[in-house]
Amino acid sequence: MLYFSDCNSMAYPQQSDELVFFVNGRKVIERQADPEELLLYYLRKKLCLTGTKYGCGVGGCGACTVMISTYDPVAKQIQHRPGNSCLLPICSLHGAAVTTVEGVGSIKTRIHPIQERLAKCNGSQCGFCTPGMVMSMYALLRNHAEPSMEQIISALDGNLCRCTGYRPIIDSYTRFAREPTCCQLGGTGQCCLDQEECVCSSSTGGQIHSGLCNPEEFPPVDPTQEFIFPPELMRMAQEQQRTTLIFCGKRTTWISPTSLKELLELKAKYPKAPLVVGNTSVGLKKNGHGTYHPIILHPVRIPEMHVVNSTNDGLVIGAACCLAQLRDILTETVPKLPEEKTKIYQALLQHLKTLAGEQIRSMASLGGHIASRGSTWDLNPILSVGKSVLNLASEDGKRQILLNDQFLAGCEHADIKPKEVIVSVLIPYSMKDDFISAFRQAERQKNALSIVNSGMRVLFSPGTDTIVDLSILYGGIGSTTLSARKSCEKLIGRQWNDQMLNEACRLVLEEIFLPPSALGGKVEYRRTLLVSFLFRFYLEVLHGLHQMYPFRYAELSQEKISALGMLRSGVPQGVQIYQDVDPGQSPQDPVGRPIMHQSGIKHATGEAVYTDDIRPVDGELSLAVVTSIKAHAKIISIDASEALQVPGVVDVVTARDVPGENGKDEQAYAEDKVICVGQIICAVVAESLTQAKCGAEKVMIVYEDLEPVLTVEEAIEHNSYITEERKIEKGDIEKGFKSADEIIEGELHVGGQEHFYLETNSVLVIPRVEDKGMDVYVSTQHATDVQELVASALNLQSNKIMCHVKRVGGAFGGKITKPSLFAVIAAVAANKTCRPVRFALERNMDMLITGGRHPFFGKYKVGFMNDGRIIAADFQCYINGGCTKDESELVIEYVLLKVDNAYSIPNLRVRGHACKTNLPSNTAFRGFGFPQAGLFVETCIVAVATQTGLPQEKVREINMYKGVNLTSSKQEFDAENLWKCWEECLDKSDYYSRKAMVEEFNIKNYWKKKGIAIIPMKFSVGFNATYFHQAGALVHIYIDGSVLVTHGGIELGQGIHTKMLQIASRELKIPLSYIHFCETSTTTVPNGKYTAGSVGTEINARAVQDACQILWKRLDPIRRDNPNGKWEDWISEAHKKSISLSATGYFKGYVTNMNWDTQKGHAFPYFLFGVACSEVEIDCLTGAHKNIRTDIVMDACFSINPAIDIGQIEGAFIQGVGLYTLEEIYFSPEGEQLSLGPDTYKIPAICDVPEQFRVYLLPNSRNSTAIYSSKGMGEAGFFLGSSVFFAIRDAVAAARKERGLPLDFILNSPLTVERIRMACDDVFTEMIPKDKPGTYKPWAINID
Ligand SMILES: Cc1cc2nc3c(=O)[nH]c(=O)nc-3n(C[C@H](O)[C@H](O)[C@H](O)COP(=O)(O)OP(=O)(O)OC[C@H]3O[C@@H](n4cnc5c(N)ncnc54)[C@H](O)[C@@H]3O)c2cc1C
Ligand code: FES
Ligand code: FES
Repeated sequence: MLYFSDCNSMAYPQQSDELVFFVNGRKVIERQADPEELLLYYLRKKLCLTGTKYGCGVGGCGACTVMISTYDPVAKQIQHRPGNSCLLPICSLHGAAVTTVEGVGSIKTRIHPIQERLAKCNGSQCGFCTPGMVMSMYALLRNHAEPSMEQIISALDGNLCRCTGYRPIIDSYTRFAREPTCCQLGGTGQCCLDQEECVCSSSTGGQIHSGLCNPEEFPPVDPTQEFIFPPELMRMAQEQQRTTLIFCGKRTTWISPTSLKELLELKAKYPKAPLVVGNTSVGLKKNGHGTYHPIILHPVRIPEMHVVNSTNDGLVIGAACCLAQLRDILTETVPKLPEEKTKIYQALLQHLKTLAGEQIRSMASLGGHIASRGSTWDLNPILSVGKSVLNLASEDGKRQILLNDQFLAGCEHADIKPKEVIVSVLIPYSMKDDFISAFRQAERQKNALSIVNSGMRVLFSPGTDTIVDLSILYGGIGSTTLSARKSCEKLIGRQWNDQMLNEACRLVLEEIFLPPSALGGKVEYRRTLLVSFLFRFYLEVLHGLHQMYPFRYAELSQEKISALGMLRSGVPQGVQIYQDVDPGQSPQDPVGRPIMHQSGIKHATGEAVYTDDIRPVDGELSLAVVTSIKAHAKIISIDASEALQVPGVVDVVTARDVPGENGKDEQAYAEDKVICVGQIICAVVAESLTQAKCGAEKVMIVYEDLEPVLTVEEAIEHNSYITEERKIEKGDIEKGFKSADEIIEGELHVGGQEHFYLETNSVLVIPRVEDKGMDVYVSTQHATDVQELVASALNLQSNKIMCHVKRVGGAFGGKITKPSLFAVIAAVAANKTCRPVRFALERNMDMLITGGRHPFFGKYKVGFMNDGRIIAADFQCYINGGCTKDESELVIEYVLLKVDNAYSIPNLRVRGHACKTNLPSNTAFRGFGFPQAGLFVETCIVAVATQTGLPQEKVREINMYKGVNLTSSKQEFDAENLWKCWEECLDKSDYYSRKAMVEEFNIKNYWKKKGIAIIPMKFSVGFNATYFHQAGALVHIYIDGSVLVTHGGIELGQGIHTKMLQIASRELKIPLSYIHFCETSTTTVPNGKYTAGSVGTEINARAVQDACQILWKRLDPIRRDNPNGKWEDWISEAHKKSISLSATGYFKGYVTNMNWDTQKGHAFPYFLFGVACSEVEIDCLTGAHKNIRTDIVMDACFSINPAIDIGQIEGAFIQGVGLYTLEEIYFSPEGEQLSLGPDTYKIPAICDVPEQFRVYLLPNSRNSTAIYSSKGMGEAGFFLGSSVFFAIRDAVAAARKERGLPLDFILNSPLTVERIRMACDDVFTEMIPKDKPGTYKPWAINID
């Protein structure tokens, strides 16, 4: 009985059912539902619900999170689940109720407590991730009114935030938890809020405050206020229980049968049709390979596929059950059963807690997981060693097969037949003499695919340690899960002892082969994990044997015990200490108070509009680009003829279509040559994005290869540099080296970093019919540059180009230069077609085309005395600039100017080169070269400490600047606050006693080590030329007394507009509620510089202050005449007296300069000091680490807004932790970037926040240079992330010392799991086969 004999070839046949679902309580009927349409795009484009954001499109960032509610007519239950709308086909939603952030609450109706708390606790900065955070929390609270802290943290596992550092997000939600959430100050039993210092008064300012908001004051969640599940959908679910649903799209037909019989008939008819449940595997493959399926079967309404039965043999779980459900079932089952029966369940649970994020766990099905058999899928090895059984069905009948290694390897005789489906899975109980363990190691603790995983099981003859059965499976090594079957067979009958372990390691390494060129790289590390896991299993079993038979089997030694257990981060808790305003300050004056981000509530309700949220305009076209696949080549020809045949394609645009200048330093459209992979060659504009992408795929380009230069090493060899050498010399280094007791030499590599702003680059260009002008809406840090480049590309005057920026969803330096090129691409297309053009980059394209932080290579020679004093240093620094100049010159200059960090080195020579290579051009990034340079000099300090045997903190102290001093460019500064921060941090972190505890821990634990490090910082704020610091503002007072403030700075999440409103409020002495900010635009404030370098806020603040003071002065006579009048009266009177109520303000800029010929200059406006102390624990067997505690003391001086400033410090710190410990960019030997999304590039997630995260603003400190004695906080916290790097290094050193290995080892950045593991050399790293470099082609190359 089939209804759609030739659906395959049909476009919208009549049989297509109506797709009915609800969105935020409103019914949606789609008569021609396209199975290929995903919910995210449907919400954003069709329903104009733009609160749900696009961040990656591959389920990895959580920006697109929505809640899906369904009704089960049999169980009569409503289920709420979070889901990634970027992977959810709309056809899977028939009968479901979707809640988006707009449905949770809005400014127009009612703000939900979840939204209110997040905003008021400063949990949003750029706000782009915020709707996703709200939705994850909302879905959790709909299911658990009083969740545990563990549930809260795991609900947020799948959500990335690049700005906040997560601490405020966690804080906002902790009060929803049922257990107390006080930090207990590390077990002292005292609450942070009751600390002595919270109530003490400082000598010159206000009281010292703890905490930035008080969630206790917020209303609780009231479940009666939530949407109820639509009764109509309940009725529908009852009535349609037996109705097959068919949705026929242009290329794909979606069939959702209601009975197993019908499903089997369909599967017989369409054996190639996938069964799509969560679409987390099929969807990704479709995205990645552009494949499509003519028929898709959706088996979620089949009762047999949802069974949960407890049988004599084990649990039977329906194949359509999702992984979150499996976790919940197992969590409930385990405590009810004897422990010996639940070993498989416990192993599964271990992985179900870390696998993916909650959204994916809620979508992905058990059947989909098993059937799709990804090599790194975590559950399959455990299910296999646990001898799980698949209950299969087809038209021919039912049968059972073992989910064994042969099934996982896809062997035909052990596989599912094309006509079969998995109905359910029997997961057996374990037995008494069974031991089962699960292992996985990923680049990040949570929400990251395993690098290697494993399931291991041994069965002993009862009461003995004689092996009767043994299975070991590994994922992440080959294209499928691999079994060490032969090795296991050989070990049967052996006793469980050290000889067996040695033999097992040898056999496994022989059997599980990983070639040196293997996909994914990390070859030696992965080989090491094979045996490291095996060793841990061996010990776990010995430990288990002892527990079962304590008199027969000895307990493990302390050394071995330390190898057990994985490192898991606990719930992070934060403390923020700052000084309150002077008690005499007017209550109306908001300056110095922790005011919430001006757009905080709008971020949380999804009402904040970003560039791609602007509604489609009439006649709008979408744009997709064709990029170079060669690193260096001549373009022989571009053939667009096929692309132009694609329906909907309007035009193909190339460099020839640019009427004026084709970019400035970098070509917008490549002309006759490409100089990196990812360079834009041409653009296809079409009626829809799908058509534009389809057209782009059809453009044929013929290249002629040229020799590329990719790495720093190759650039040095070819003398390929972007700029002349830069040099700074101080003192006499030759003399210095001569008088040194010792000289050491070494080098350091620091990898690059992706900005990974959550909002990808986007631009909307709307041509104006009149006057040939254009409005450009763009996500940029530099509106003036966009205006200039677009104007020159179109051969127009700048006054015809209106550039508008409402807000930017994160930038970090990455949106200074690149958005102008994207704007030119779109503007040229708009000019050619005379139609508006939208160009919003997909995540992979954004990462492919744009560069990031410069990879760094430094060589040092340091001369020092035996007491640790460094007296001479010679540094040679290189950065990989990529293919064009961009900001590389500035970055290498900053490397030189900042490399001294906090240290006075009397004889110093630094030379720097920016290398020119055929990689995407690297650009500005928070810190501009200092994060690399700072790490480099701290590495020298560590090397000196190692050589002298002195404690690192002593070598730091002895070399730190003291009193009034000169930098290497002869700029004077006072180091007093550096020392204050240092001493305060030593004290607050309890450094010395914790260091002793770390040492004690390390003596007792061979396989786990702790490390602690305290790092000082001198950060130079701003730029080394005055004109970078100029700024303008425009302030209008309207007749009703309301004020509109505009300035040239751009809101990137750093709260610039919030601070501007605070400043206007103080200067005009009116409440914040009177003042509004609308947008940054070149039409109101011209010629703005880019918002960057930590000074964006303070320089624009000066301009706003100037305008406000002008206006205030103009009102003088009016106020004198009516001193008791209200603001409104004065304004009305002023208007009547023809006093202008509009003023521009201007700030000329700080006087700074740098003369590279004399190597002297007042290079920076001022300096900022800070110190961080971090403690970590590492797992020497796997390389995993956890961040235990960080204390930061920052010399923020008078903070205009402590909530924003502390937010900047915390966010920057976590981004720094990312650079130094996590984030790795891979390039192929051909120069193609391989890490192009959150699946392959890991930024810190919630699991990376230190368990104790404390930030203290140094009290009673003032800065005469900046407005109101403040300091710019945007970048400084970043470098303090290096304290985690050095704490890890300290832990690694402890491990090496114990193993008798040299301590002058090199550790490059980032300190990933791989680097940590391989530095903790031991018997297992020695065991593995090593490949000689040069004898194979590696998967990825080092470009630094
Ligand atoms: C962002 C992200 C992160 C992830 N992280 C992890 C991780 O950390 N660890 C991990 O282990 N996995 C991870 N995964 C993978 C995830 O576990 C799988 O994609 C998922 O389990 C597949 O289930 P699904 O229901 O979505 O499958 P679908 O995509 O719906 O289907 C997958 C395949 O299974 C087949 N299939 C489905 N059901 C049946 C059935 N009953 N009978 C026969 N064939 C069937 C389909 O025909 C299809 O070919 C991640 C995935 C994503 C997208
Ligand atoms: S956009 Fe869906 S998870 Fe990133
Ligand atoms: S606030 Fe989270 S990404 Fe910007």
